[in-house]
Amino acid sequence: MAVVGIVPAAGSGERLGASGPKAFALCGGRSLLDWSLEVLEAVCDRVVVAVPAGFQGEGRVLGGASRSESVRLALAAAPEATVAVVHDAARPLITRELVQECVGALAGWDGVVAAARVSDTIKEADGSGRVVRTLDRSALWAIQTPQVFRADVLGRALDVDASVLAAATDDASLVEAAGGSVRVVEAPAENIKVTRPVDLALAEALLRARC
Ligand code: CTP
Ligand code: MG
Repeated sequence: MAVVGIVPAAGSGERLGASGPKAFALCGGRSLLDWSLEVLEAVCDRVVVAVPAGFQGEGRVLGGASRSESVRLALAAAPEATVAVVHDAARPLITRELVQECVGALAGWDGVVAAARVSDTIKEADGSGRVVRTLDRSALWAIQTPQVFRADVLGRALDVDASVLAAATDDASLVEAAGGSVRVVEAPAENIKVTRPVDLALAEALLRARC
């Protein structure tokens, strides 16, 4: 079994508004990407990172126009993979235990996704803001990464038009659309995603509290 880490890190980080690409923004003394790499390199046989133009190098490939296209390009650079551990560089609080739990849960499934129970009430509203309905949150999960897949299944799910890849907000949805079976694993509450400056400040506080 070859377990390969796939890290989409090729985004620009528009919402964070840093001076460079988000994955290379500093957080707690090192880049967001480096926090994830330390964990993935400890639990995977190899890691391939999709990066923006100008950041290529050993273990790095040029990313694509969308997140899932970046995943497709990185996976293509790891033909030996039997298990793919996809993890966004934007989630620096990943732990070895979480990756191992997701990999361990893959038996009998095509994909396993880290997820958090929804704690807010979730409503659906129309374009005018009028509430249409309130969803039953007991069955709802906020989906994160890591997302662990059988690599052959993920490769086939990603073999779709660029427009389909661009519309996908995670890789599991593409596997689901291709008929694959996906399950959730509950992640620790600290596995947050850095999207805006407030998230970077929170991630930094959490990472410093770890040391
Ligand atoms: N990503 C990528 N290739 C892209 C777009 C995104 O590899 N074409 C990566 C990002 O680097 C990030 C992850 O996908 O690690 C999740 O994306 P997101 O949080 O949206 O990051 P950005 O796209 O960089 O941020 P923004 O949408 O604010 O520009
Ligand atoms: Mg983005």
